[in-house]
Amino acid sequence: MADLFSKFDGLIAQREGLLATGVTDPFSLVMERVLSPTVAVCNGHETILLGTYNYMGMTFDPDVIEAGKQALEDFGSGTTGSRVLNGTYAGHRAVETALKDFYAMDHAMVFSTGYQANLGIISTVAGKGDYIVLDIDSHASIWDGCKLGDAEVVPFKHNDISAMDKRLGRIPEGAGKLVILEGVYSMLGDIAPLKEMVAVAKGHGAMVLVDEAHSMGFIGPNGRGVAEEQGVLDQVDFVIGTFSKSVGTVGGFCVSNHPKFEILRLVCRPYVFTASLPPSVVATAATSIRKLMDGNNKRAHLWENSRTLHGALKGLGFQLGTDHPQSAIISVIMPDLERGAAMWEALLHEGLYVNLARPPATPAGMTLLRCSLCAEHTAEQVQTIIGMFDRAGRAIGII
Ligand SMILES: Cc1ncc(COP(=O)(O)O)c(C=O)c1O
Repeated sequence: MADLFSKFDGLIAQREGLLATGVTDPFSLVMERVLSPTVAVCNGHETILLGTYNYMGMTFDPDVIEAGKQALEDFGSGTTGSRVLNGTYAGHRAVETALKDFYAMDHAMVFSTGYQANLGIISTVAGKGDYIVLDIDSHASIWDGCKLGDAEVVPFKHNDISAMDKRLGRIPEGAGKLVILEGVYSMLGDIAPLKEMVAVAKGHGAMVLVDEAHSMGFIGPNGRGVAEEQGVLDQVDFVIGTFSKSVGTVGGFCVSNHPKFEILRLVCRPYVFTASLPPSVVATAATSIRKLMDGNNKRAHLWENSRTLHGALKGLGFQLGTDHPQSAIISVIMPDLERGAAMWEALLHEGLYVNLARPPATPAGMTLLRCSLCAEHTAEQVQTIIGMFDRAGRAIGII
């Protein structure tokens, strides 16, 4: 009998090799208690969190918590059903209304995760005979949505406008075309030139989907994302987002002005054939989204944090994923997995949690220490973080 697990042997050996060096497993950290959006207890020690996607720090907002508690009391712990049958409660409609108000769009559809939102929308709107043109660095959920839908998939080099243009130009006349882009690319923290890319896509008669998972709440005058910041939101056909980052809970969504959008509720399998989000979750999401509409001060403070940390890490001699800060993600490029894991552990001992990221999640085989800032990080915490990087970087020999 062929062992179906033999395909994982390479990865198992690499993992065992790494752990044999005595390093703490970077992929199994337990947060024993979470004290605030920026501090948790890990291995018995208070640790500053710089590796969550809690960009706007909404997880401990008192109004958000209260809304969740109330919904738990009023509607129970779960829906036990699909949105199409017994799984649409008042709270699901309320969070969709909050999303329509937040984006000033006609339609909003909520999924159980952002992963499922990409899976569902992409596979349902682009099927056999259609073409999907997408950035090669797209998130796994985008690739999986392409696979599920059976369209022809044409990738282009990351953020390369002319490569995208050429790919679109080769698609047969009359075929359905969907261009998929992200606002912020989460590994390096860089943004897409959406203004130019959306213009090129529209010039070829393509529909455009933008995943704004890492920009919602933070980027753009109203926190609607990079498409808003670059003035092209009205030309984007579908915006995909998640509740698991700036919104501070779990869930995914798509907003759109397409006049036929509502039919998707009957034909989108990752929406129809799964249970809906619990009432407490949609209540926390709706409250958080409405508060994010008024998030100018938080947005300004988060930009300040991003500029300070980026400038300081660059000044210390670390190699970063972007020349200047483009988002709340600052990626520090490590020379290899071994030194990346050692640096990750040294930072943890300092009392700082960041993300160690490695292929296949990262582009070009890179090992990264990804730092995600939060609007609730104080200026003092950012200075403390800089000191921790300085000491750990010198101890491991990276700077
Ligand atoms: C760009 C992008 N899209 C979608 C998702 C999926 O979001 P969720 O965590 O809600 O499944 C992520 C999650 O990291 C992401 O980075």
